[in-house]
Amino acid sequence: MNDNRKEIIRLLKQSEGNPVSGQEIGEKLGITRAMVWKYIRALRKEGYDIRSSPKIGYTLDAYPDRIDSDELGKVLRTSLIGTDIRYYSELGSTNNTAREIAAKVTEGTVVIAETQTNGRGRLGTEWQSASGGVWVSLILKPSIPLENVSKITLVVGIAVTNALRALNVDAHVKWPNDVLVKGKKICGILTEVSAEVEKVDHIILGIGINANVKLSDLKDEIRKNSTSIANELGKTIDRTTFLADLFYELEQQYIRFKTKQFTDIVDEWINLSDTIGKEVKITTPNKIIEGKAVGITERGALVVIDRNGNRQEIIAGSCRYSN
Ligand code: BTN
Repeated sequence: MNDNRKEIIRLLKQSEGNPVSGQEIGEKLGITRAMVWKYIRALRKEGYDIRSSPKIGYTLDAYPDRIDSDELGKVLRTSLIGTDIRYYSELGSTNNTAREIAAKVTEGTVVIAETQTNGRGRLGTEWQSASGGVWVSLILKPSIPLENVSKITLVVGIAVTNALRALNVDAHVKWPNDVLVKGKKICGILTEVSAEVEKVDHIILGIGINANVKLSDLKDEIRKNSTSIANELGKTIDRTTFLADLFYELEQQYIRFKTKQFTDIVDEWINLSDTIGKEVKITTPNKIIEGKAVGITERGALVVIDRNGNRQEIIAGSCRYSN
């Protein structure tokens, strides 16, 4: 979108439903009223619902639900996460694009797409990525050993949960990396690592949040266990503002991860957890463990007391709740 059109939208949004005259817009932009009118017509064609009242001015009644990456850059309160934003209307998978560019970009770069045609979930599953979601991949380059990567996934789960709770969505983390609301999935996290000789080169953290996704757009088998922010709140959210808040949370948690004891993070994760205290069935590549989830270790492993009363520590796997 050209700068004048963007500026007109900014002015109309700023006036919060009050009309802004063509003259005022023209003066602010240094263009004629006729030019303002030309831009208003172009914006209407792009889906902006702009009412024009003779002698009063223009009012923005509704606008297309799109992430505004320029606006996001302006409202960010971070110094690392999101300082380089790669925004696309459509991608195969933001994780794939992030992986392609990871070596060339700085830490904290994010890849965002309005829709994904090949969104990927954990364990080779498909991730349905209709419009209205927050589909984002974050590139981090921490100097940590490979075994510490699962800790970062827990950190991201905390950040997403806090960002959702700030909207009054009652979110909880489910081990290893889902976020649930009343038992239904609202977010999944896909962590992918590139490492050399046990040392991390970069980590791609793919975060998928059903923000304004219409549940009716999801396949039946996914829909029955899913929810969205819009579904929980009964209204859609401004995804641009939400992303700025999410990046802020992610940065705070990442700084804490790098500077503080991991026990602080474990305590917060347990506080936000949906999993601790539940009967679980954990599947790993070489075994299945059934029992009660009782905690998280210093290494970021889930602690399960199995059916024989033995303590098991699981660093990676998938988790189902029993009964
Ligand atoms: C899961 O719960 O299985 C993980 C889902 C992760 C989905 C996100 S959406 C953004 C990023 N790009 C992808 O292709 N997947 C992740």
